[in-house]
Parts: sequence; C-alpha cells; structure tokens
Amino acid sequence: MLERTEGVNRPIGVFDSGIGGLTVVRELLRVLPHEDIIYFGDTARVPYGPKSPETVVRYSHEITSFLMSQDVKAVVVACNTATAHALASLQKTYNVPIIGVIEPGAIAASKLTRTKHVGVIGTNGLVNSHAYRDALHRLDSTIVVSEQACPLFVPFVEEGWLDHPATHLVAAEYLSPLVDDQIDTLVLGCTHYPLLKDVINDITGPSISLIDSAEETAVQTSALLSQHHLKRAERTDKPRLRFIASDSPQQFLNVGRRFLGSSIDSVETVGLGL
Ligand code: DGL
Repeated sequence: MLERTEGVNRPIGVFDSGIGGLTVVRELLRVLPHEDIIYFGDTARVPYGPKSPETVVRYSHEITSFLMSQDVKAVVVACNTATAHALASLQKTYNVPIIGVIEPGAIAASKLTRTKHVGVIGTNGLVNSHAYRDALHRLDSTIVVSEQACPLFVPFVEEGWLDHPATHLVAAEYLSPLVDDQIDTLVLGCTHYPLLKDVINDITGPSISLIDSAEETAVQTSALLSQHHLKRAERTDKPRLRFIASDSPQQFLNVGRRFLGSSIDSVETVGLGL
C-alpha cells in the first residue's frame, strides 16, 4: 500500500449499509474529537446481511470510491457484513489506511475472555462468513466460538423497538442457546446491536461481558492514524461532520438522532450505482 502522509487535515471516511455505523461514529467522536468525518449510509440498499458476498463487495467498492473522491485520508468500514466480505479487497485497491470492525472486536474479546468460550452474534451474512471465528482463532486457536445469527434485531432497531416486549422475546430465543453454551464473552457483531445492549444484557446476565466493536475500532483507528502520521492536531474550531445517505434524508435524520443525538443536523443525499 502506498503511504500518503500529506493532508492530515483531510476527513476520515466512514461507511455502513445504513445508519448502524453511527455507533462507530459516536466512538470516533469520543476518541478522535478533532477529526472531520464524512459518513456514508447506504440506506437505499440496506440491509447487506442477507445479500451475497459479491454484491456486498461491489457496493463497498462503490462507496469507497465515492469517499476517495471526497479526499478522505482513511476509511473505516463501520459495517460487520461489509468488513467480512470486502475489507481485504478494499485494502488492496485503495492507497489510504482502511480499517474494519471485526479485527478490533476480536482483539477485545480475546483479551476479555477467561473461559475461552466466546459467542458472536450478527447478520446471516456475517455469521455465515465465520469472519469473527477466524479472526479469534488467528489470535488464539484455543478459543471456542459459538455463533448465532440474529436477523430480526436490525429491523427492531430501525423501528426504534429498543425496549419492546417483542424484542425481549426474540432476544431470548436467539441468545438462550449461547447462554446454555456457557460463553463468558459475547461479541455484538453488528453495528446496530449496541443499541440493544440493555435487552441483550437482560438475557445474558452479569456473568457474560458484551463486546461492542465500535469502541475498540475507534481506538484502533486512532492508533492507525498515528502510525501513518495522519492524526490531526488539536483545534479550537468544531470538527466538520458530513452525513450522506443514498436514500431519504428524513428517515436517516429521524433514526440517526437515536444514535448520535444532536450531532446530526443535516443529511445530504447521494445515489450510487442505482
Ligand atoms: N450494518 C450491518 C452490519 O453491521 C447490519 C445491517 C445490514 O444487514 O446491513 O452487519
């Protein structure tokens, strides 16, 4: 990969299949408060979870090319499904640092587990790719990994059913097998799931630690920027945040505020490959 050390003041590009990646933006704002961010949510084509790897790779390249056209200095793939299918191909194609959410989540889980039995939940695409299992085994081959797809969680979050009885019911159905498996650490392998932490905690109880990849991804992004001499110096003015959706800005605004509060005041629309 070519090194580009000029232009530290360029923004960081972040993308997700929709609004879920805003949980990663929330952490980036906390860990890297001086950076400008351009966020692209592919709301016209969400969800990526049930789509084929080839389609997700194509979408991910279209979005990354767009972010590169906006002169970003690094890209955060804030979507577990896109990371599983497309990260390696993106890293080979573009000459800026590109980071996904899976490796950071796996690192955090491997540090935290005591019993070496880790659960992973995510979309069907993510779970079928076994990307977390493989990442965990690269770190420690003795870790036992129990995986569970939770395809109904994303629509519940999009609907704002964060504490709805139906969400509790479905969570119990999905998570009970993992509790029975006696995992001690559970990776929230989908950008939407941090919003369901309370519901998930109700089922898993205090003896199972939840890993939110977003937190660790922000820490690793900061380290990657430092390593490439791309970290912006402290500033007195407010960082510039741009939010772009491929579909209705209104829906993005409504749901996005649940993730980021008042940090979102406007949303642009850019259609890609439609
Ligand atoms: N952002 C996706 C992920 O983290 C979840 C939503 C989708 O299926 O596109 O896997």
